[in-house]
Amino acid sequence: MEINQLNIGMQVPEFVASSTMGPIRMSDYKGKWLVFFSHPGDFTPVCTTEFIAFSNAYPQFEERNAQLLGHSIDSNPSHLAWVYDIYLKTGITVPFPIISDRSGDIARAYGMFAPDITTQETIRNVYIIDPRQTIRAILIYPATNGRNIQEILRLLIAIQTTDEYKVLTPADWEPGQPVLVPPSMTYNNLLTREDNAEEIGLDCIDWYWCYKQPFNENETE
Ligand code: BEZ
Repeated sequence: MEINQLNIGMQVPEFVASSTMGPIRMSDYKGKWLVFFSHPGDFTPVCTTEFIAFSNAYPQFEERNAQLLGHSIDSNPSHLAWVYDIYLKTGITVPFPIISDRSGDIARAYGMFAPDITTQETIRNVYIIDPRQTIRAILIYPATNGRNIQEILRLLIAIQTTDEYKVLTPADWEPGQPVLVPPSMTYNNLLTREDNAEEIGLDCIDWYWCYKQPFNENETE
């Protein structure tokens, strides 16, 4: 089976597909952040818990100008029946579309089939896609283990923060915590930071390792 290998920094492959909310093209999402994620199959327990968690977190993604888009190779009627079942069992309406990829063409284009799995079942891939439709992050989980939706949201916010303020985020960073500034690239800049760290709002542990306080919501730079 030929599997396309997408990577971060690449443009997303275009597609058109049917979904629980009508026909969808990948290019419909230009200008918005998108979390596009595959799941192995409808009416399965792990996937059901993930869809509930994604639905509950949907307002948090929307606050970040991000849309959610689910994918599997199940049919659209299957998706509809499953979404309705989730509603009947939990009262939760899945507020985002799920596309149906019966041929597996989208799954192949995005590398959603694991090479060691012989069945035509996608694994749990997540693509964080920016408003220019560049892939910014790819997360891959096995079919057996559900994703941490808050981690996906955290990574989205971290990437947006990096883009907006030209900073880096440290290990285990959470929104509102101090960020890192890119290390000095010139000796002059290194000395300026060493001599004036406090004045320029930096908290430096070493010349290459400086923190900056988090930004206010309305702050631009
Ligand atoms: C699940 O979502 O529960 C599941 C799907 C495929 C394989 C294993 C578990």
